[in-house]
Amino acid sequence: MRIAMTRKIPAVAEEILKELGDVDVWPEQLPPSPEKLLELASGRDGLVTTLNDRIDGAFLDQVPEVKVVSNFAVGFDNIDVDACTQRGVAVCITPDVLTDTTADFAFALLMAAARRVSESHQSIPKGEWKTWEPLGYLGQDVHGATLGIVGMGRIGVAMAKRASGFGMPVIYSDMNRNEHAEQELGVEYVEFNDLLQRSDFVSVHTPLTPQTRGLFGAAQFQAMKESAVLINTARGPVVDTDALVEALQSGEIWGAGLDVTDPEPLPADHPLLSIDRAVICPHIASASETTRSRMAQLAAENVKAVLTKTTPPRCLNPEVLSSD
Ligand code: GLV
Repeated sequence: MRIAMTRKIPAVAEEILKELGDVDVWPEQLPPSPEKLLELASGRDGLVTTLNDRIDGAFLDQVPEVKVVSNFAVGFDNIDVDACTQRGVAVCITPDVLTDTTADFAFALLMAAARRVSESHQSIPKGEWKTWEPLGYLGQDVHGATLGIVGMGRIGVAMAKRASGFGMPVIYSDMNRNEHAEQELGVEYVEFNDLLQRSDFVSVHTPLTPQTRGLFGAAQFQAMKESAVLINTARGPVVDTDALVEALQSGEIWGAGLDVTDPEPLPADHPLLSIDRAVICPHIASASETTRSRMAQLAAENVKAVLTKTTPPRCLNPEVLSSD
């Protein structure tokens, strides 16, 4: 067997995959270009990819030996799953193992944005801490505030659980109702527009699909409270970045906590970075030592299972798996 990994990930993945045969790992810090990705994938039976790698039909046609694409992520908008299915290629992902770590981080961003953690910290090395200020860095209360969750899947549910500890009423919108979450957590299903109008914090936990691309634009920011804070740990393109900059600059919404942006990486001179009330991190929500190791293990187990013709733990298109 020949397997390629498009980035260095925690060592456990290579340990598992070496039992199957040769493993080549892209050694550089930056992801391979499309041309290099093709070279790396040529003649491989399996690939461990990241969200930086675009996997579509045109790519797969050039690497016909590939039988499994195992994404080191829960999101898979970088992969054309239908194109993979049509070519009999299994697509696997790493859900569950990152749910709590990602929700922890979404909540950290919510707190940081609401209470101006980053902005006030940055004031100190600038020499701006002259005295205790009665009117300095006034933020938004988190406890008791209404949290609107867009997408009540695994991570949305984990976010709702965290909010309950802060006495926050939780409302949510989704394409499908999550009656289990309604019963277990007392969250209330509302229409998206209703959620925008009622929420003090809006947290995005939806995958990037044609339906969710640009879900937040000028009209949505207008509908939100002027004191509202937008949190996005899902995918950058769910939010129209220019409209967000405008909404923050004009005071249409109060703040934002973003772990994902459009584009990624965000250029160092991007206007979002000059907005004090926007806390921005470089797509690190699942980045804990334990969670990244679990993701690596699961990504490798997915490849191993497909190539040894057993059932992969997390496959998006199990119909391509055959037992022969
Ligand atoms: C990271 O963004 C992931 O999808 O796991």
